[in-house]
Amino acid sequence: PIPYTESLAESLHVFRRFPLQDVRGIPLMEPIAQQWGLIESFQARPDDLLIATYPKAGTTWMQEIVDLILARGDTAKACRAPTHIRIPFLEICSPPPVPSGVTQLLNAPSPRVIKTHLPFQLVPKTFWEQGCKVIYVARNAKDNVVSYYFFDRMNQTQPEPGPWPEYLQKFMDEKLAWGSWYDHVRRYWEERHNHRILYVFYEDMKEDLEREITRVATFLEQPLTAEQMAVVVHHSSFEVMRDNPMANYSSIPTAILDQSISPFMRRGEVGDWRNHFTVAQSEAFDTHYRHRMGDAEPHFRTRL
Ligand code: A3P
Repeated sequence: PIPYTESLAESLHVFRRFPLQDVRGIPLMEPIAQQWGLIESFQARPDDLLIATYPKAGTTWMQEIVDLILARGDTAKACRAPTHIRIPFLEICSPPPVPSGVTQLLNAPSPRVIKTHLPFQLVPKTFWEQGCKVIYVARNAKDNVVSYYFFDRMNQTQPEPGPWPEYLQKFMDEKLAWGSWYDHVRRYWEERHNHRILYVFYEDMKEDLEREITRVATFLEQPLTAEQMAVVVHHSSFEVMRDNPMANYSSIPTAILDQSISPFMRRGEVGDWRNHFTVAQSEAFDTHYRHRMGDAEPHFRTRL
């Protein structure tokens, strides 16, 4: 297969703002829906590690942390390639000739680390059958939707986000790409007892990064020395990742991710939603949230 980044640059004509298409009740980008058979029949290996998130929950941050842990704090090793090459995106598809995430993964040596935004029920069954480890990152809904809004403005392959109030409504109506945030965070939370799922909150990472990295390293059975830990903490900080071309998506052509509209590494904070929600929007959101999250509410609301 053609190396991913080079083929992107050669194939810019195939990219556009793809519409969403329904796959088992979940709106996904059209090329993903069209190649769904390939994704669904993906064969996981027992030593695969899956990093699963709703889009914009802190995926790239966790990818960097995991890669740094596996590299035992060797930053040169973690800088060997951009994030999307080091940790392929399972379901990503573009029209040919751009290789899909699945194609990239078929040729990847074990152990593979894989990114997905698929909701639990759409994750290829073999991940569960093989007992693969999964790290799930959840972020509070309000910051998550704000981050997604800025991302959809700069990502030239996702549907036009339109004005913020309409976008917010689409999030609440569970119509954005990869579907319902509410079902996504909740289902993985419920399934964490049935599978090897480590559930991590973005807000907890912001509160005490070393504590959360320790949880991840323990889960991966890769304990770090104090020295290695200091390196991982430093290199996964917002500022270092923002300036790291291997972690900030600057290698993706502007025709796909236009960082002049909004940088990929945008704010990286908890509570940025306050700069974007009106008081009325926040109240309506909270009411809907309480209704929608039901008995999961006490847990997730504390992180709003
Ligand atoms: P903002 O848009 O709020 O800044 P994903 O990787 O799932 O697409 O998530 C991207 C979000 O995670 C962005 O949020 C980005 O800034 C934030 N992020 C990435 N790396 C981070 C880090 N090291 N520390 C804090 N936030 C980070």
